[in-house]
Amino acid sequence: MEGKEGTERVHIFDTTLRDGEQSPGISLSVEEKVEIAQQLGRLKVDVIEAGFPITSEGDFESVSRIASEVRGPIITGLARVHEADIVRAWEAVQWSERPRIHTFVGTSDLHIEHQMRSNKEDIVKMAREAVGHAKSLSPDVEFSPMDATRTDIGFLSEVVAAAVEAGADVVNIADTVGYTTPVEFAAFLRDLKERVPELAERTLSVHCHDDLGLAVANSLAGVTAGARQIEVAVNGIGERAGNASLEEVVMALATREDFYGVEVGTETRQLSNTSRLISNVTGYDVPPNKAIVGRNAFAHESGIHQDGVLKDRRTFEIMKPEDIGLDSNNIFLGKHSGRHALSDALAELGYHLEGEPLKRAFERFKEIADHKKSVTAADLEAIAADEVGAFEGKYVLESFRVVAATGRQSRAAVTISHADHGTFEAEAEGDGPVDSVFRAVDAATGVKGRLTDFRIDAVTGGKDALGEVRVTVEFDGAEYSGRGLSQDVVDAAARAYVRAANVYATGKKLSADWAASTP
Ligand code: KIV
Ligand code: ZN
Repeated sequence: MEGKEGTERVHIFDTTLRDGEQSPGISLSVEEKVEIAQQLGRLKVDVIEAGFPITSEGDFESVSRIASEVRGPIITGLARVHEADIVRAWEAVQWSERPRIHTFVGTSDLHIEHQMRSNKEDIVKMAREAVGHAKSLSPDVEFSPMDATRTDIGFLSEVVAAAVEAGADVVNIADTVGYTTPVEFAAFLRDLKERVPELAERTLSVHCHDDLGLAVANSLAGVTAGARQIEVAVNGIGERAGNASLEEVVMALATREDFYGVEVGTETRQLSNTSRLISNVTGYDVPPNKAIVGRNAFAHESGIHQDGVLKDRRTFEIMKPEDIGLDSNNIFLGKHSGRHALSDALAELGYHLEGEPLKRAFERFKEIADHKKSVTAADLEAIAADEVGAFEGKYVLESFRVVAATGRQSRAAVTISHADHGTFEAEAEGDGPVDSVFRAVDAATGVKGRLTDFRIDAVTGGKDALGEVRVTVEFDGAEYSGRGLSQDVVDAAARAYVRAANVYATGKKLSADWAASTP
């Protein structure tokens, strides 16, 4: 594997758009996913897992678009061992210069019996056939035994040997439920390598979940045992407690190259931007004390620490803020700044808006700059995140008005246009202005949503701060999230609600319980 002067390279496989997107309440639009993937390209990850194409039209579309538009990283799509999944994954990733199919099957007794309702013999057969089929379509195939760390090592070796024989280029050992521990995991991987010597010719990968808070430690232990691909998600988002956090794994390997003896190709100066982009778009906040990208990760509170850092920063710092690109936070634009200045500032922050979205972002920037003394990086990021994908939806909120309010009751009127079906006006009563606007949107679109979460935040401090509303809305039994930004809270709420309706309308999730189907 490549590297400088014989140093081996560890490949960073980013699954923010697949496992990360499986976090409760996250539902990204196609446009948002493409923007994130472009940023992952600038971050120079080695592999982008862009989605799970069989699960919905929306996932299929976003994986296909990412495969055709994002250059540099390998683009992969997930597939169960079903023939239809593999074909669908290939149809989506085939547009990439470097396509990969990633297929997986549960291998632990619990998964075989209860999830797959199958037996060991059939699982080996399914793995072999799926990899063989994927390999007949794609030059690059990854195979994951799911729940590998709770699988009997003898049986795991059998499945892995079958997958390697069928042509798997990468074998990814998944700690699906975050059960293993670092010393145990390293020993497990070494044992597997001994039992399946052919693995030496393939890339060994690890995929660790954080249920016990050990995902990063386990991934790094994997590296000491020979793993040369690590699967991670930005800010550690993912199923339940999440995946190993990309920024922590990358900075641990980069900072402690002396210990791990491997290199990563990641552009670490893009880490801070990427983390904020993901947090803005998903609505998942980053805890202030989170390693690497938390607000306090480079802050020194105690006098002794401050004094030491002033004398020589190495006394209490092992990384520099600029290593992760924190210096790009100091952006301020005034009301006389032009569209180019805005576009440059946004690019510095990791958002590359063009055409109509840039025009809209500029209008909103001007509106805000008229009311605020200076527009900060946080304001700009909030506007940009709001504009990403704003045009892909079929529904556009043209206007809304609260027409009457008596006590707690309000009546609102909205005008919504639909790209294919014209303009609809509707009025509705509700419990206060926000509820009445939501009901009027339901009446205008004809799709009834049930609000399951509503959050409001100020983007920056001060009376003139922008208000950001995040909603989670249930349509047809599945949850969709939306985000709206405005100096008027009802406006922000209405935008967020229409956004969620748009994600639903573009077919983000299949309501059918596809996952429950047996192979
Ligand atoms: O956690 C897991 O097992 C997965 C597999 C699909 C790799 O996400
Ligand atoms: Zn996972």
